[in-house]
Amino acid sequence: MKISVIGTGKTGSKVVELLGDRSLYAFDESTLPTIEKLKESDAVIIFVPGEAVSDILDLVLKSRIPAAWGSTGFEWPQDLDDLVKAAKTKWVLATNFSLGMNIIRHSIKKISEGSKILENPNFEIQEIHHIHKKDAPSGTALSWKEWLDKDVEITSIREGDVNGVHELRLSTSREEIALKHEALDRSIFAEGAIWTAEQLVNNLTLSDGVHTFGELFDLVMKES
Ligand SMILES: NC(=O)c1ccc[n+]([C@@H]2O[C@H](COP(=O)([O-])OP(=O)(O)OC[C@H]3O[C@@H](n4cnc5c(N)ncnc54)[C@H](OP(=O)(O)O)[C@@H]3O)[C@@H](O)[C@H]2O)c1
Repeated sequence: MKISVIGTGKTGSKVVELLGDRSLYAFDESTLPTIEKLKESDAVIIFVPGEAVSDILDLVLKSRIPAAWGSTGFEWPQDLDDLVKAAKTKWVLATNFSLGMNIIRHSIKKISEGSKILENPNFEIQEIHHIHKKDAPSGTALSWKEWLDKDVEITSIREGDVNGVHELRLSTSREEIALKHEALDRSIFAEGAIWTAEQLVNNLTLSDGVHTFGELFDLVMKES
């Protein structure tokens, strides 16, 4: 399997490193991707900042190769699923490619459901990232809010070289529940993105169109 990577910064460079001899092309702003080169790949993994997504979206679509997108801070077009289906290909979008984030997703849904029995529960999400992160709140924090499906305030802190810390706190006047995820190493995102690219190429039950990382994960778990 040959995989190309677009965006070889803090996260994409880890992908290239872990791919080893499965890595085909590595693109960045000085080596821009072309449709022809992308077409030589079985799949592409993308870690460009949200503001650069519109520069490459059409190109990736036209290449028609399966894509694992890790970019956050971009508002995806409403008709994206139709566009990807029309190109007869498969994309997976992830605000966080950590495989462990799937445990968190299920936990947050349980917390949301269970909180119904509590008196006046208050929800807070705090996220901490390195000072170079361009979007706030983080895509992961926004996903947590979506999974929680409650009115919740998100606090964003930018400090040092933090890979990503997310914490959900549920409190009442008499008790507090906290759920925390800390990315200790950026390789967890790279591993999840490579796992996704492998599924995009090999998993025949995955249909054309756009899928979330969570949908793919749950599909694979059901099959195993
Ligand atoms: N989903 C996840 O699990 C996950 C995990 C971590 C980060 N992220 C997200 O991934 C994105 C990248 O994060 P990062 O920290 O790795 O960023 P980064 O260190 O700033 O790296 C960004 C990379 O994108 C390249 N790039 C920028 N504009 C481009 C363009 N128009 N065409 C091609 N390449 C372009 C840059 O190239 P140059 O170096 O040449 O400028 C650089 O290699 C962010 O949106 C971040 O939030 C997601």
